Amino acid sequence: MKGLVGDDEILADGIPQIAFVGRSNVGKSSLINILTNSKVSRTSSFPGRTQEINIFLVNNSFYLVDLPGYGFARSSGLGREKIGELIDSYLFNSIHSQKKVVMIIDANVGLTDKDILMLEELEKFNKDFIIVANKIDKMTQSEYHKKINEIKKVVGEQHLIVPFSSKTRKGLESLSDKIFE
Ligand code: GTP
Ligand code: MG
Repeated sequence: MKGLVGDDEILADGIPQIAFVGRSNVGKSSLINILTNSKVSRTSSFPGRTQEINIFLVNNSFYLVDLPGYGFARSSGLGREKIGELIDSYLFNSIHSQKKVVMIIDANVGLTDKDILMLEELEKFNKDFIIVANKIDKMTQSEYHKKINEIKKVVGEQHLIVPFSSKTRKGLESLSDKIFE
């Protein structure tokens, strides 16, 4: 799905949509692979892998919408803008609504400026969203507590934060409960 024009039909069939949004390389596609039990969503150690919106149907019940990552500087100004527009046009400027938006951040990095902008937009548009603090396998126990607390302080109490790892699958059960509830 390159743009929304002409591709709207698939998303207009009433099946609930769950969108995955976050910076490039935070692990959106990896998480979708786990939730769909497959390798359909291409992942890469090289940021900027997902360049268009990919949609996966799970159990004939949900669409998982894999969005390109924001905030990656490889593409020229124009390319980067286009990706930003694509994300906006799906999330904030279209007839589509999401049952849930899953915003993924890197727990080791915390919230970047771009993450905060996204957070503010999600709030402004009253999206029902949860935050996945990913890659917790890369931190020690004490780093984990420190970082998760910092993230909680920035996000506030009103949004759920799920510490998660695609590598160890820690947090998977509570995450899928929340996503598919
Ligand atoms: P874009 O499509 O570029 O926006 O990236 P993405 O958010 O879809 O990230 P992707 O799933 O492609 O993962 C990027 C890299 O991070 C890959 O090398 C993954 O193996 C790695 N990765 C994803 N999740 C985890 C995790 O929980 N722990 C660790 N250690 N690595 C992870
Ligand atoms: Mg991706």
